[in-house]
Amino acid sequence: MEELWFKEAFRGELPDGFHGGTSWQSPSNIALVKYWGKKGKQLPQNPSISFTLKNCRTETAVFYEKSDHFGLDFSFEGKPHPAFQSKVEQFLLDQRAFFPFLDQLELRIQSRNTFPHSSGIASSASSMSALVMCLLDIESMAKGVSDIDLRKASCFSRLASGSACRSVFPKMALWGVTEAVNESSDEYAVSLEQEIAPVFADFRDSILIVNEAPKEVSSRAGHALMDKNPYAATRYAVAKQNTATLLEALRTGDIEAFIRITESEAMQLHALMMCSDPSYILIKPNTLNIIESLRVFREEMGIPLCFTLDAGPNVHILYPMQYAEMVERFIMDELETYCVGGQWIQDQVGEGASRFQYRP
Ligand code: PMV
Repeated sequence: MEELWFKEAFRGELPDGFHGGTSWQSPSNIALVKYWGKKGKQLPQNPSISFTLKNCRTETAVFYEKSDHFGLDFSFEGKPHPAFQSKVEQFLLDQRAFFPFLDQLELRIQSRNTFPHSSGIASSASSMSALVMCLLDIESMAKGVSDIDLRKASCFSRLASGSACRSVFPKMALWGVTEAVNESSDEYAVSLEQEIAPVFADFRDSILIVNEAPKEVSSRAGHALMDKNPYAATRYAVAKQNTATLLEALRTGDIEAFIRITESEAMQLHALMMCSDPSYILIKPNTLNIIESLRVFREEMGIPLCFTLDAGPNVHILYPMQYAEMVERFIMDELETYCVGGQWIQDQVGEGASRFQYRP
């Protein structure tokens, strides 16, 4: 597939005076079945499934001007950000075979997140997918076409930052080959929007900030440790089975199965970290306090809520929209105390990447 996009690349001379700008927003996503372990060029060892979020997003504007060389001036939240600049620059330079017009453009990129960057929420999925949407939009303008192929956007987002490939699609996405979905691929994610029962289409995600420090072990290092993890083969087999079971639960609206698989996946992710060599622990005591309280509340109230974790200590509490009021009250009364500075973010399933009017 990458080969095809390579052939389709715009290889001509850009017209004189080719300048303009585009801006896109793209959301973060939270995995239910986790991608943990990779092979080849950012390819997953097992399929993963995620909710696309609505409120946690990156907004990016790219202004371009014809030039005789590639140039980049990057700012994040109004200020230069050397670390992000070099990540973006490296990605763009690596993609020049697919986007040869980059050698004829000076770019000015402005980017910001809608969520606090001290929240410990990873922004690479939202930021890299927003950047890719802008890049493909510029390519479309150079070709004189208006459509952006979301699978292509997903593929390049994957090359920029693994799980970013799931962010471009509305509601839910599946990344990685599974027999359960015909069009599934390791190279890009596919939309599950048409495959899910209505209850999941506006599911809530309340993100409880347990610790705001940057991760002690990066995802990149964590994926690499899977190569020698003694449980890796079993993990990949279980994740494949969980993918099939969760897909069925999503289709039929089986919330009990949804809860069972989602919580088991979160626990497995962190168990894999704990039995890596070297071993490491990203959850904190308050992560466990929240999980314990949540399970008691679920038992007592009979409300179908559950938790998931990404590669960090923060807890995502997932529940159907109809229980929003009761769960919010529970969070405020019993869980806020475990959040750093009482901080939590209200989010829900959202619509994926979209054009957006960037106001500096
Ligand atoms: O996309 P990466 O390399 O940051 O890895 C993401 C890993 C998890 O968030 C833990 C799981 C997932 O599928 O998003």
